[in-house]
Amino acid sequence: MAENTRKNEALPGWYAEGLSHIWLPYAQMKTAPDPLPVVRTHSARIVLADGRELIDGIASWWTACHGYNQPHIRQAVERQLAAMPHVMFGGLAHEQALTLARRLTALLPGDLERVFFSDSGSVAVEVAMKMAVQYWLNRGARGKTTFVAFKGGYHGDTTGAMAVCDPNEGMHALFAGLLPQHIITDLPDTEEHAAALDALLARESETIAALIVEPLVQGAGGMKFHDADVLRRLRALADRHDLLLIFDEIFTGFGRTGTMFACEAAGVTPDIITLSKALTGGTLPLAATIATSKVFDAFWSDDPNKALMHGPTFMANALACAAANASLDLFEREPRLDQVAAIERQLALELAPCRSMPNVKDVRVRGAIGVVELAHIGNLGALRRRFVDEDVFVRPFGNIVYLAPAFTIVPDELSQLTRAVAKLVGQGVA
Ligand SMILES: Cc1ncc(COP(=O)(O)O)c(C=O)c1O
Repeated sequence: MAENTRKNEALPGWYAEGLSHIWLPYAQMKTAPDPLPVVRTHSARIVLADGRELIDGIASWWTACHGYNQPHIRQAVERQLAAMPHVMFGGLAHEQALTLARRLTALLPGDLERVFFSDSGSVAVEVAMKMAVQYWLNRGARGKTTFVAFKGGYHGDTTGAMAVCDPNEGMHALFAGLLPQHIITDLPDTEEHAAALDALLARESETIAALIVEPLVQGAGGMKFHDADVLRRLRALADRHDLLLIFDEIFTGFGRTGTMFACEAAGVTPDIITLSKALTGGTLPLAATIATSKVFDAFWSDDPNKALMHGPTFMANALACAAANASLDLFEREPRLDQVAAIERQLALELAPCRSMPNVKDVRVRGAIGVVELAHIGNLGALRRRFVDEDVFVRPFGNIVYLAPAFTIVPDELSQLTRAVAKLVGQGVA
């Protein structure tokens, strides 16, 4: 890395000695700035090795919805650690996983009844795609292997998931033409787009397994918002053309957009839903792919070939399931959705002045997500560093500066975040 030979006595030994052995995410290792050494977290704060505290504006990629080191989750994980950290899920079952499956299906709308656990969002998407293709195979329909996905979408970094990302904005442009070919088109956000999608589905439905979308907010592909109407149209189109509908709620699930799940805002039940990120309150890796009875029934057979042949080694990890159950307790006991509504109001108020700043294309807020879209960001690295100078952790990408903090962030801390955004955008640091 550019600066990793720099001598800095303040850096801890583990950092100096380990850095040259690590490969970082989404980073050109030759030119990427060094990562910040973190020694602790608490509430909405990240503590650096030199003692500085940063207010976290993005809750560790949107996972830590209750803030860091939440005591109820910690205690649940500690209890589980003493009893049983992990057992394989093949031929064995345990209380935390079965309780979590029951609770998730009770929370989700409609008859999303069967939970398949995995260990990351991308794998949850892979499982959803495999389920969708095999749903048709099990029903005797061969050749239905194509997915319809949407411009601006992002669904993960594994091969199958990459292939349904926006080819340009979904981070995988280099792989264009090398991945399985799917249909990436416009969301039905206007009558014209809806008619075009209807025509496309009519033409191609024999080859299509499912439509896949991030409902209400397309996250890593550019923090783009659409209305609940779009989801109702997608449900109607999927039904009309007899296709499955997959909602990827890995970002939007667990309150982020203002309702427990984004699909609730539209009154729409998908055939398959994927969850991860805030599922464990940001403590441990866990994901779930949940299918309706209609999907599950296509696998229910005396024929072993109709089984879903999938089983990640660490699926339904007991520690992660205990954390997820504790996270659901907090959603039940504490006013999380009210906190999201308060964050939404504050973000709308405090980011509004950015609208009139030069280089600002759009300011938008939904739930606990605040976005300032710029015409361009010239030097992403410099902008990220300037946020650290303001004692906040904000990680702009593309031409997007956004906040997606813990729901428990206090108003003063949120104001520090919005002040930093307004200051740096206003100064034209980008
Ligand atoms: C909507 C969506 N789907 C899938 C993923 C992939 O999840 P993971 O990074 O856990 O593999 C992400 C991650 O940002 C996401 O936002």
